[in-house]
Amino acid sequence: MTPNSALPTLGTLDTLGTSHFEPLIITYCCYWCSYTAADLAGTSRTQYPPNTRMIRVQCSGMVHPNLVIDALTNGADGVLMCGCHEGDCHYREGNLRAKARADAIAMMLEDFNLEPERYRLEWVSASEGPRFAQVATEMVEQVKKVGPSPYK
Ligand code: FES
Repeated sequence: MTPNSALPTLGTLDTLGTSHFEPLIITYCCYWCSYTAADLAGTSRTQYPPNTRMIRVQCSGMVHPNLVIDALTNGADGVLMCGCHEGDCHYREGNLRAKARADAIAMMLEDFNLEPERYRLEWVSASEGPRFAQVATEMVEQVKKVGPSPYK
C-alpha cells in the first residue's frame, strides 16, 4: 500500500494568519498488537495529537523501506512504525525484519537528505494503549522540531 500523494495537509495557518507547523505522520501499525493498542488508546480516551494517519498492516516486517520513503517524499513529515515486542511477532521474525530494515531506512533517509528523526520504530503490545499515545505524541513533537518535509 502506498500512501496517496494527495495526502491532506494539516492546518498551517492559525486564525491570525500566523504560520505554524502541524506535521502529518503516517503510522504503520501491525494488526496483532499495535493497531489494537491504538484502538485501546481511543476507546479508553487516552489523548494524543490528531496528526497521525494510521495504516494497518499484518506485520511490521511486511512494510518495505520504499513505502517509508514514498510517504516522506509525497506529503508526510514523518513515519512511525509500530509492531509487536520482540519475541511476540505473530509471524515469528517479522518485527526482527523491521528492526533490520530500520538501518536501511536510516541510510535511505540520508540519501534523500531527510533527517533521521522523521522515522521511528517502536514496539507496542495490544495492552499498551497509553504507551501508543505516548509514542505518537513524542513522534509528533520530534518531527515538529525538524520542521516540514523538504519534499512538500
Ligand atoms: Fe506484530 Fe509481526 S505481527 S510485528
